[in-house]
Amino acid sequence: MKKQEIEGNFLSPLPAVLVGAQVNGIPNYLVIGYICPFDFGKHIFFSLYKKRYTQIGIHEHKTFSVNIPSEKILAKFEICGSNSGRDFDKSTLFDNFYGVLKTAPMIHQCPINMECEVVEILDYDPNEGIIGRVIKSYVDPQYLTGDKINWRNLNPIIWTTGGDYSYYRIGEQITPKY
Ligand SMILES: Cc1cc2nc3c(=O)[nH]c(=O)nc-3n(C[C@H](O)[C@H](O)[C@H](O)COP(=O)(O)O)c2cc1C
Repeated sequence: MKKQEIEGNFLSPLPAVLVGAQVNGIPNYLVIGYICPFDFGKHIFFSLYKKRYTQIGIHEHKTFSVNIPSEKILAKFEICGSNSGRDFDKSTLFDNFYGVLKTAPMIHQCPINMECEVVEILDYDPNEGIIGRVIKSYVDPQYLTGDKINWRNLNPIIWTTGGDYSYYRIGEQITPKY
């Protein structure tokens, strides 16, 4: 069958996360869907619209956190993705904690947290590409099976781009049969 041409970027689905920064002395979180690991996981790249309130804290402290939510906190996740810290205090939505970087607030209610140091900011007006180095990562031990993360128990929020823009659950594990 002949392929049909289609407009868009379909590198999707992606895990949606809550990125955190200290803005004007308090934690602020926003939803980021355009995010990925690179450099075999040592670095993280994400796309940030310059007008986001979170951008102020990332520029000031050169730190941020990446918090992987589970489906359990979908409602609060939505609040962070649809309200700006400019006019809504998101610091009381969760229990916040800090790691070694001291200026990258993390969310206790997210099963996985990573604190990152900014190494480069790319100007893609009106957006920025933020590149961070992962300094330390944390996990709720209940989501570990041995030393591996049990993704099916954790239930990350999977987001689709390319026009669909919906949330999904992770599916079954599959293994190749030879
Ligand atoms: C599913 C989803 C994905 C999003 N992805 C991004 C993104 O990649 N980059 C971005 O700048 N904003 C993204 N947003 C929008 C911000 O999360 C939203 O505008 C937020 O309210 C900004 O908060 P702030 O002004 O407090 O920083 C996304 C929102 C949703 C719901």
